[in-house]
Parts: sequence; C-alpha cells; structure tokens
Amino acid sequence: MRRAAGGALRRLAGAARRRVSPRHPHWGNLRRRDPFCAHWGYTRGTPVDRVYIESFLELHRSDIRGDVAEMMSGDYSRRFGAPDVRVHVVDVDPRNAAATVRADLCARDALPPGSFDAWVLTQTLQFVPDPEAALANVRRSLRPGGVALITVPCASPLAATGAPSGDLWRLTPAGLGALCRRAMPGARVDVRGWGTLTAMTAFLLGLAAEDLRPGDLGPSDPRYPLIASAVVRTPPAD
Ligand SMILES: C[S@@+](CC[C@H](N)C(=O)[O-])C[C@H]1O[C@@H](n2cnc3c(N)ncnc32)[C@H](O)[C@@H]1O
Repeated sequence: MRRAAGGALRRLAGAARRRVSPRHPHWGNLRRRDPFCAHWGYTRGTPVDRVYIESFLELHRSDIRGDVAEMMSGDYSRRFGAPDVRVHVVDVDPRNAAATVRADLCARDALPPGSFDAWVLTQTLQFVPDPEAALANVRRSLRPGGVALITVPCASPLAATGAPSGDLWRLTPAGLGALCRRAMPGARVDVRGWGTLTAMTAFLLGLAAEDLRPGDLGPSDPRYPLIASAVVRTPPAD
C-alpha cells in the first residue's frame, strides 16, 4: 500500500517537473489548424511583422524626403517622411483610387525614369511575377543619390489577395541582397533580417505584438528572420 502511494507520488512529481521544464513543450491551445486571427493579427492589435517594418522605416526617416514613390498608399511616406514630402502612390490595381502612378512594376520602363528621391517598397515583391525586373524598374526611376527602402516577408501565411498573380515568393535576407545586387548594379545594398523565433511563431499563429512581451521581439536572431529589409542607394551624380 505504502509502495503504491510512493509510486503515484513519484509519477506526479515527474509530471510536474516536465510541466515546468523548458525542455518540455506546452502546446496548450497553440495546437490548432486555424490561427487566432486570419488577418495577420489585426483583430488583436498590431501585426508582429508591422512592428519590424515600421522600426526599419523609423530608422531611415531621413531618407524619406523629396519625391517619394510608395506602393498602394502614401501612409508610410507621410508618417515617417519629411513634412514637405511629395508622395507618388504606385499600383497596378485599377481599383486603387489613391494611385497616382498606374503601373505594372515588372513591365519594362513602366515607371518614369529618374523621377524619385526615394522609394518605400514594403511587402510587395512577393506578389510580382518578376522581382528582378521590378527592382530594375525601381532603380531606373530613382534620381542619382536616391534610396529604395525595401521589405519582404521571410515567413508568412499565404496572402489570399495582394496582386492579380497571387502570393508567389519568400526571400531570406541574403536572397533579397543577391536579388537587389543583380537587379541594381552599381548601387550600395545593405540587408538585414528582423525577427525572433517567438515573433515568427506568434505571427504564423495570428497573434499580435500586444500578445507578446517586449523582450520577445528583439534583439533579432539571424536564424529566425520574419522580414528582410534592404536599403539600396544609387551613386550620387558626378
Ligand atoms: C500588400 S500591398 C504592399 C504595400 C503596402 N504599403 C504594405 O506595406 O503592405 C501590395 C500592393 O502591390 C500591388 N501590386 C502587386 N503586384 C504588382 C505589380 N506587378 N505592379 C504594381 N503593383 C503591384 C498590389 O495591387 C498592392 O497594392
């Protein structure tokens, strides 16, 4: 009798140890087929990827000045750019009433050459059928000494919308760097990965930044980039 009770106690103690051990996973309600939010976490708060995208733009505020091209809306240029920034909204989508430049990024010479001081090209390259052609067009549309601020998702659920051709690609920071260097010869390219294992997991689960602790988002871990950013600078005029 006493031996049986001792065995039960030992089993209970073992189970309790496993519950608190960092080596033992606690799936709880994380084992699921559907995310907590199917819209990138928006119904819960700030999508985790947006925290990194906006930190990147914040870091490069001083580059968002003069004539700035931005995809889909001018929100980021107005929020992070100089007060007198002139925003040009680019989109292929004919339903986008905010667009002032209606262009397919992949169509050669679709953009006015040498027209912009900066580009805010966030979360778009994954939708374009030919990202190299798109970047070459972006490069041609920049003035000498211009800068393109680019982000792409490294890990993300597939987007149901975003472009006629659908959600096509994921890039790593090194892949984004290689693509920019190939498409924009002569430009200076600086790439960076943003994310942590917890941030990446939370984003895939449809959780928001508000579901996390501040320390969960950084410092970024190069093994788990959620997004990649690139700063591409064209050479100044001679
Ligand atoms: C998800 S939005 C990205 C921009 C937004 N500011 C952001 O940060 O999420 C993608 C935009 O790219 C546009 N787009 C997709 N493929 C395109 C293409 N080949 N040429 C021009 N615009 C394109 C879509 O219509 C859409 O407005």
